[in-house]
Amino acid sequence: NWTMASFRDLEIERIRQQVGDKKVICGLSGGVDSAVAAVLIHQAIGDQLTCIFVDHGMLRQGEVDEVVKTFTGQFNIPLIKRDASDLFLKELEGVKDPEIKRKTIGRLFVEVFEEEAKKLGGADFLAQGTLYPDVIESVSVTGSSVTIKSHHNVGGLPERMNMQLVEPLRDLFKDEVRDLGREMGIPENIVGRHPFPGPGLAIRILSDITNDKLDLLRKIDSIYLEEIRSAGLYDAIWQAFAVLLPVRTVGVMGDGRTYDHACALRAVTSVDGMTADVYPFDMAFLTRVAGRIVNEVRGVNRVTYDITSKPPGTIEWE
Ligand code: XMP
Repeated sequence: NWTMASFRDLEIERIRQQVGDKKVICGLSGGVDSAVAAVLIHQAIGDQLTCIFVDHGMLRQGEVDEVVKTFTGQFNIPLIKRDASDLFLKELEGVKDPEIKRKTIGRLFVEVFEEEAKKLGGADFLAQGTLYPDVIESVSVTGSSVTIKSHHNVGGLPERMNMQLVEPLRDLFKDEVRDLGREMGIPENIVGRHPFPGPGLAIRILSDITNDKLDLLRKIDSIYLEEIRSAGLYDAIWQAFAVLLPVRTVGVMGDGRTYDHACALRAVTSVDGMTADVYPFDMAFLTRVAGRIVNEVRGVNRVTYDITSKPPGTIEWE
């Protein structure tokens, strides 16, 4: 792709100009944007870059290993991984309110990130995978003074630690970021990945979060995504995920009564996440997924499909 190759070369030059011989740290989330930003910056300044990956314990099955393997293996980028799952889970214990969840996770994330950054002896620059729609959205949010959801990033950190921002993707849309990532050889399992929110599974477990609920949701989610992939639908969908509901329903299994969790499945199409339409699965597909979930995930006995568009719904449930 000619355009992306020249964009990459220009951006590499710009990063070198901006950073000089100083140090940069970059927070990895497991998502597309921070991964592409990190690889681009690494191509520009090599090991002046260190990535920090804070595992908050609310990632999907296998996600941590996948990120660590790609970054340290294929790209050889210096990476610090901090497992902070116990801390996050403890602080979130009993928290039911979506905004308090988001703010708690955002605050802890910054604290842990800052700790790791200090251990490195600090840095002059903080890299972020901010995209053009993020820039627009934060402007419009400030302008209207309405916050629908507090988005989770490393906000406040640059000022506190006296760092400047490096944001090489801030003129790009998501599909362009994916093209850039492919251009740089980032594997499809990361580049083509659906967006995933910073607070992770915490905002897909309605009401309070426990380890047991996280386990249930991981199992449900991985069955759902496995079926989507094997039906060849993954790339036609903007985002697909499961939500664990704080509701138990009565069911029947063999000769017995069950009283277990209900879950919802969501899948949407979208261009930039600002608006979204429901993905029109075949009923046969949905019933197959529901059958597998109820049979394979003990503790779940009912599956629903969310048919709300955005607006008036949002993509995530919290
Ligand atoms: P909503 O639910 O607001 O989500 O329609 C729009 C898109 O943003 C993602 N999302 C987040 N991404 N930090 C992120 O990095 C967050 O706190 C966050 N909350 C929602 C969501 O998954 C969807 O793609």
